[in-house]
Amino acid sequence: MIANTAAQTHVFDTPEQLAQQAADWIVGRASKSRTRFALCLSGGDTPQRLYELLATPPYRVRMPWDRTHCFWGDERVVPHDGPLSNFHMAWQALLQHVPIPAENIHAIPTEQTSPAAGAAAYATTLKRFYGGDTLEAGRPLFDLVLLGLGEDGHIASLFPGSPALAETERWAVPVVGETPPDRITLTYPVLASSKVIAFLVAGERKRNALARVRAGDLALPASRLQTAGAIHWFIDRAAAATPALSGA
Ligand code: 6PG
Repeated sequence: MIANTAAQTHVFDTPEQLAQQAADWIVGRASKSRTRFALCLSGGDTPQRLYELLATPPYRVRMPWDRTHCFWGDERVVPHDGPLSNFHMAWQALLQHVPIPAENIHAIPTEQTSPAAGAAAYATTLKRFYGGDTLEAGRPLFDLVLLGLGEDGHIASLFPGSPALAETERWAVPVVGETPPDRITLTYPVLASSKVIAFLVAGERKRNALARVRAGDLALPASRLQTAGAIHWFIDRAAAATPALSGA
């Protein structure tokens, strides 16, 4: 469980500092990797500034875009050029500005017949990239997974009470009729199959969920993520405002 996993916590005064330090940290990790760097992006608002920074010269030139592969932890089932699309946000903020090969951008398909078909197609994409149908301990799929945290403690599109929380076989599942618009999300085993997982959490409205997750409250989906990988929390003071976390 997340609460029992040794985690490194990075607390920053402002969301801007958080984004800058996270950008520096990501570039540092990617440039140290020798082969391909599999990066699983998060949706939502919090990572947008980080993506914008990764597209700026000091970071862009240090990132090994030629061998970086981008995936998504979840997607809203809307057209990729729509304002609610996680792909659209990352494309606008980052991907259209950097020399990443088009074939290295693995968007979650939303133009398929149904969310279930999109989820199945994405699972196939992930398995092809991984080179197998079964995740192996000690051979993580991703080098880095970025996750936001919802006020209700959700991660990706794994929402409280969702049947998707219990999924252990499928790599991606549809999330229909829960939080509109419908979504496609990676499941716990796939999100957990990473060398490192970095949570990006900013703002007072996340304070309660963050404190509960770090206390191991299993009612929150984020708390139930089990990973052999390292965990890093990038948080700002507004979200961290409990004595234990803010180093007061
Ligand atoms: C999404 C995200 C979701 C997000 C949280 C936090 O598709 O919305 O993947 O899990 O990370 O909802 O969102 P904010 O960063 O906007 O607060």
